[in-house]
Amino acid sequence: MPWPLSSFVGRAAELAALGELLTRNRLVCLTGPGGVGKTRLALEAIRGSELGLPVTFVALEPIRGAAFLSAAVAAALRVRDRPDVPTNEAIAEALVGTAQVLVLDGAEQLRDEVADLVRGLLSAAPGLRIVVTSRRVLGVAGEASFVVPPLAVPPVGASAAQLDSADAVQLFLTRARERLPDLAAGRDDQRLAGELCRRLDGLPLAIELIAGWVGTLSIGEIAARRDTLIASAPAAPGSEASRTLESVAAQSYALLGPTVQRLLPALSTFAGAFTIDDAQAVAAVDAHEVASLLRELVDSSFLVAKHESGQARFTMLDTVRVYVAGLAPAADEGPELRRRHAEHFAELARGSEDGLAGSESTQWAVRMDAANPDLELALWWAEEEGDPDLGLEMSARLWRWWLMCGRLTVGRGWLRTFLQAAGRRRDETVAHGLSAAAVLAAENGDYADAVRQATVSLGIFQSLGRRELAAFAATVLGSAHRYLGDRDAARRNFQVAMELRDAMSDRRGVSVALNNLALLALDDDDLIAARELFEQALVIKRQLGDPRSVAIGLANLSDVLIRTGLPEMAARALAEAGALAHELDNRQLIGTIRCNQGDLCASRQDWSGAAGYYQTAVVVYREGGHAHDVVNALIGLSGALHQLGQLEDAAKHLREAESLAAETGNTQGLAAARAALGELGELTVVALPDRLTPRQAEVLGLVAAGSSNKEIAARLHLSVGTVERHLANIYAKLDIRSRVEATRYAVSHGLAARHDRHAGS
Ligand SMILES: Nc1ncnc2c1ncn2[C@@H]1O[C@H](COP(=O)(O)OP(=O)(O)O)[C@@H](O)[C@H]1O
Ligand SMILES: [Mg+2]
Repeated sequence: MPWPLSSFVGRAAELAALGELLTRNRLVCLTGPGGVGKTRLALEAIRGSELGLPVTFVALEPIRGAAFLSAAVAAALRVRDRPDVPTNEAIAEALVGTAQVLVLDGAEQLRDEVADLVRGLLSAAPGLRIVVTSRRVLGVAGEASFVVPPLAVPPVGASAAQLDSADAVQLFLTRARERLPDLAAGRDDQRLAGELCRRLDGLPLAIELIAGWVGTLSIGEIAARRDTLIASAPAAPGSEASRTLESVAAQSYALLGPTVQRLLPALSTFAGAFTIDDAQAVAAVDAHEVASLLRELVDSSFLVAKHESGQARFTMLDTVRVYVAGLAPAADEGPELRRRHAEHFAELARGSEDGLAGSESTQWAVRMDAANPDLELALWWAEEEGDPDLGLEMSARLWRWWLMCGRLTVGRGWLRTFLQAAGRRRDETVAHGLSAAAVLAAENGDYADAVRQATVSLGIFQSLGRRELAAFAATVLGSAHRYLGDRDAARRNFQVAMELRDAMSDRRGVSVALNNLALLALDDDDLIAARELFEQALVIKRQLGDPRSVAIGLANLSDVLIRTGLPEMAARALAEAGALAHELDNRQLIGTIRCNQGDLCASRQDWSGAAGYYQTAVVVYREGGHAHDVVNALIGLSGALHQLGQLEDAAKHLREAESLAAETGNTQGLAAARAALGELGELTVVALPDRLTPRQAEVLGLVAAGSSNKEIAARLHLSVGTVERHLANIYAKLDIRSRVEATRYAVSHGLAARHDRHAGS
């Protein structure tokens, strides 16, 4: 038996499931692409199973030609050759009355012959069990098939625990340590290893090949040169010498029919998971044909199919994609394929602006998350192949998605590129792009930029007579002014938006405007006006009957109620909002409501209750991929833990928040996380200007965000007197005299924090 020498990693769930299958079925077939770990998993599962039978292993990969199949199996089973008896019969006779497990490893090249042999043996020898590994399903009646998934990889922005528990990272580090026993892989190295494993699709063979470079290069260097290293890696230790990734892919390709082979270049244009509709649009094939072609590719492990939210998504392993890209489609086909790809995803971007805010927002978020790599690819194409208008239109629509998933810096970068390409043009697309850029700039803490861009955008929309878009730009402009602390300008613009929407009888728009005016009232500490405005907005939302916006309205209202000292009413509003959010299965909303419930507990000094809610919010936001919100929830959580005296955990969560905020360009979150770390005495590198303390910087940031002293006190769990003392010290230190000057200082030194969590619509 070729029991492997190298250590086996992870696969707990797969081993359990396979163990079950093995005890219940006489024929089990493990399928999956080359290098995914079929052979290894099969052996490990058999070794760990309760069968307790002798095992015979036959490696089919080296066998070329059906004639040699029976001979190889006979040899492995030590069945002697008898003249005049066909080998298959001799094998069957020898197996009658024995109980054992026969492993046929690597059946893809000889599928039909293996299927025939297996059928014959199973009916002749009742005590026989057969385990087959193959890149393609065998297709024998009674076959229990098990699709071997790649190793689990950590998600983007994974927590320390997620990095530790990802099988792929474990394999990488295990193999790396076999080369370099005293490798000290710190957090950064682990993160890089996680990223690397994600890029390698969690494919064990690829991970082993790349880990072979540890010792020669650092993990960072390996991550940067991934593609060239993979191509030039020597074969993995212990595997056949020829087993490079390329040879694995080439073998699989040769097994496909010509029609399917022709489809592959189109499918290799996708950077991420695609749906059947995506495939049809880009490959330009018939609706009824596309399904069966995809099925063949899944059956032969070229594509991996996943079912999520009632939709099948297909991915091509990156390693396979690299191979297919090397096949080079017909010269005229390549550019056309990429254009069709870009236009298809531009259409998706267009739909997402409204889709993500509508009643099907959850489905849209799932769809956008899966499509994100392809959206980026389309943007690259638009830039490089010279269709900047398509790029501008796309990025002008993508703001809501970028905002939602915390890709602010990325989004701003694209908008800058395409707006520059548009030069001095002043049309609707440019105006749309400017509004989008302003939203992201504001969220990114760059308020002055936001005001500038939104002002130009508003001017263009007004001169074009586009009232609805003008109302949008006015709203963006108002919010930017509000973050800058200029409440009069904010109010003027919110009012402009309100009038435009009223004139268009846009009730939903009016409710948004009311909501924004309520936020201004909150800034003014006018809790009564704020409550009234939130309630008016809520009435409209209820009339319109969109549960999502009702839930948002309730969440906003609850915040005022908490601050007004009406915890019971707040709890009721939150309970109703929570029920709606659950019905909608909207992760972001659920998270927001949990955070508000955390705030409610905090206002009653119930810190363990608060910690529980914030913790749930962190989990829910993570599931939904809302990087921005995760940061807020982590900060809330650590605040509660701090109060509970669990300083170590508090610091741990803050570090997570800090690195996530830094990764996603979330300046406000970054500032808040650092301030809180400073508070814990945990911050070693603080680059604060003018010897400000972290707490002073935080107070200043909140002043710049338009908070009153009372609000700052509530927010930081301090007394108003303490806040006033902080401010007096700050004014003295900086030689300033007013809130306006303080705001200006905070903004120009990058300390301006936006601290509210109010949903904008
Ligand atoms: N869970 C695992 N732990 C350790 N090594 C693994 C694991 N899964 C796969 N490998 C290694 O990855 C390589 C590819 O796995 P293998 O089983 O040969 O893939 P397949 O049979 O699907 O082509 C082998 O070197 C194998 O030892
Ligand atoms: Mg194998």
